[in-house]
Amino acid sequence: VIRQTYWRTRFGFYLAAVGSACGLGNLWRFPYVVGDNGGGAFVLLYVAIVLLLGMPLLIGEVMIGKTTRQSVLAATRSLSERHKKHWKWIGRFSVVLSLVVLSYYAVVSGWVLHFLVQFTTGAVTGLYASDAQNLVSALMNNGLLQIALASSHLLVAIVVVLKGVQDGLERWVSYTVPLFVVLLLFLVLRSLSLEAGPEALRFLLYPDFSSLTKSSLLHAIGHACFTLSIGFGTMVTFGSYLRDSDHIPTAGFRVSVADTFISLLAGFLVFPIVLQASNIRASDPAMLFEALPLFLLAQPGGVFFGVLFFLCLYFAALGASIGLLEVIVSNLVDRLKVSRSLATWGSGGAALLIATGPALSSSVLRHIEFQGRGVLELFDTVLINFFLPIVAVGIGLCVVTVLTPKEREQAFIDNTRIESVRLFPHWRFVLKYLAPAMVLSAMLLQLWEWFI
Ligand code: PHE
Repeated sequence: VIRQTYWRTRFGFYLAAVGSACGLGNLWRFPYVVGDNGGGAFVLLYVAIVLLLGMPLLIGEVMIGKTTRQSVLAATRSLSERHKKHWKWIGRFSVVLSLVVLSYYAVVSGWVLHFLVQFTTGAVTGLYASDAQNLVSALMNNGLLQIALASSHLLVAIVVVLKGVQDGLERWVSYTVPLFVVLLLFLVLRSLSLEAGPEALRFLLYPDFSSLTKSSLLHAIGHACFTLSIGFGTMVTFGSYLRDSDHIPTAGFRVSVADTFISLLAGFLVFPIVLQASNIRASDPAMLFEALPLFLLAQPGGVFFGVLFFLCLYFAALGASIGLLEVIVSNLVDRLKVSRSLATWGSGGAALLIATGPALSSSVLRHIEFQGRGVLELFDTVLINFFLPIVAVGIGLCVVTVLTPKEREQAFIDNTRIESVRLFPHWRFVLKYLAPAMVLSAMLLQLWEWFI
């Protein structure tokens, strides 16, 4: 199926792309990965990786979509037919990855939903600083509740996706992201004025390189791919809706910068609270949900800000989930010629089934652990740090070997932008050599840390 519809406005594309890029990855995952990797030096490494690897890969992925005007499965399949190479496996892999990621993403989105409901009812019945701890533990100990929340979340995503990209996605995400940024800025100012504010600034900005470990490089690469939505095929689909006149590298740059900015805000918001509280582990996946209620409920008007925060976060999570589900659905429809509604219900149902594992991670399956990580964290680590970078690099290689030089040049170079001419060979070098080499070395370093 070759696309013939486009984003109605260029701004619509940005909002949707930033809406898909900005999600739990920025607010929930970024702070805990930074905590896990010791702070400032990792932040620096991460920003460097975003610019050096993330952005070029993102540009490549959008380019496949814009050039072929197809979603990732159909695109990699037709490209592999044209060049007799087996790139279609990359496409298939990325769709499966989207499905598994969607499933545990739904569990964490369910947590957001829980807090949204608690704060909303709390606005009526009253919610106090002393309740903060209970809110988290009630959720973590209750596996069934987590399954119910994940199902509700998936149901919402299914309903939105059934309405189709233009109507569903664009409208949902467009209003909440800018509002969220304003709210975050406001909360960050308040959080930084806590006693531990300066300490948090130092923790996030002062690079103490001795705190990096052999896993840090892989963690930075994995998170960069995840947060920019690279390697899932989402950006291929997004690119397929771009208009001919849109310049991909500019779009890639803007989306990467906006996404990194939001992640940094999340760090500045969370760490003053975490460093001030003595009982929150800075590398805990539930860190955001332990820290934020504690902080908000101690503030005047905290319940109101809590409702607003979790509402925005929920929309961000929903935008991302819709992006993921949309990838699976549009690929199934393109390839298997099934109806859109069957594809949506089928993949939503499959995601729910897989989600039961991570949803029970902190209750029934609590005893299942590897290297101190529970089921949900294992899903997160293995998928994001191992599978995702492999697929991302694979898509990048597909761009530089299968698209013709002319296609690449046309998509990358814009003669009114002299820098695009200069950057073109560097971009190609990154996709072809640097990205594979770095991912490979990062994985070897990680294995070294684990097993030697
Ligand atoms: N980038 C999103 C986030 O940071 C996650 C995501 C990945 C969304 C892939 C869509 C597709 O939360």
